[in-house]
Amino acid sequence: MEKITDHIKYIGVNDKDLDLFESQYVIPNGISYNSYLIQDEKNVVMDTVDKRKTEEWMKNLEEALAGETVDYLVISHLEPDHSSNIALLCEKYPNMKLIGNNKTFAFLPQFFDIPNLAERKIEVKEGDEISTGTHVLKFYMAPMVHWPEVMVTYEEKNQILFTADGFGKFGALDVEEEWDCEARRYYFNIVGKYGVQVQALLKKAANLNIKMICPLHGPILKENLAYYINKYDIWSKYEPEEDGVLIAYASIYGNTAEAARKLAEILKKKGAKKVVLSDLAREDMAECIEDAFRYDKIVLAASSYNAGVFPPMEQFLKLIKAKNYQNRKIAIIENGTWAPSAAKTMIEIISEMKNITQIQPQVTIKTTANEENIKELEVLAENLLK
Ligand code: FEO
Repeated sequence: MEKITDHIKYIGVNDKDLDLFESQYVIPNGISYNSYLIQDEKNVVMDTVDKRKTEEWMKNLEEALAGETVDYLVISHLEPDHSSNIALLCEKYPNMKLIGNNKTFAFLPQFFDIPNLAERKIEVKEGDEISTGTHVLKFYMAPMVHWPEVMVTYEEKNQILFTADGFGKFGALDVEEEWDCEARRYYFNIVGKYGVQVQALLKKAANLNIKMICPLHGPILKENLAYYINKYDIWSKYEPEEDGVLIAYASIYGNTAEAARKLAEILKKKGAKKVVLSDLAREDMAECIEDAFRYDKIVLAASSYNAGVFPPMEQFLKLIKAKNYQNRKIAIIENGTWAPSAAKTMIEIISEMKNITQIQPQVTIKTTANEENIKELEVLAENLLK
């Protein structure tokens, strides 16, 4: 069990055989459900874990407690990956109080029937403090990062911010991997829609001296915190993180894919620093969404279908739109044998996004790219690199 300080322990668990996180995201390296124990005159558990790992988590908790009891449970977030064991813990420690906010306690009965909840709950609001003896916990509301009841807790003595899903990452803790990629994929797919609310939380955090960030998923961040906070600032402002072109294609028989590859080749020949090709019909959609937000330019290449656009492209565009995709340059390549309709449908969806500039020319391929199309791709590549 990892010691975070002499009196704060990590009691979370790894989950490495879950097929899909939230029933939608592949997690090749698993995920961690983090939970912490603050040991003081009053012992505090910071969130529980998913019911898939109840036994292991309970063992960690009991081992860390070494016979002591739990006085408080802080509920940062009610999503079942963190809340599944609230009722069990209440049962096991009948004198334990639950710390949450008005929304936590509005939603909690939808999850569990907790006897005497009115007497057990401690409802906190923005800036409220609770002393546990030598530690003081201060609560800040973080609505919609990622649910309405989310709050973060600042532990003053060691200057630790417990950030709920914020600064979370896919990947179990015993896997060595770069933080950025799986943290970015986590952020844009799970919290991406709520950039404004993340900005609000970052502003609150800016007024605190923070030495350590303890999220509910992924590694505890102990060094170089400005790096991670800066990433969150860029992401939540919907600013591109890197110069690069994502060519996202949805191709039925491969002719549109061929044109996408051709454009990639031309771009590289013309000196593009970074070009990423994504097959929307086959690759992890969550990764494609992450890349859409990562780079400053995107080329959408799609076949026509049912007088609209091939569904993987429609799904992709609707998903990035729902996550407030904005402030980017886009280009469009459509394909259709008799009545190309992909571009019109793509533009309809894009027209509802903020601050999008279309780079010309718009390319229409009729089945396979002809010489004229290749010339258009050359011009498009030049304009993308301007
Ligand atoms: Fe990790 Fe929004 O729950």
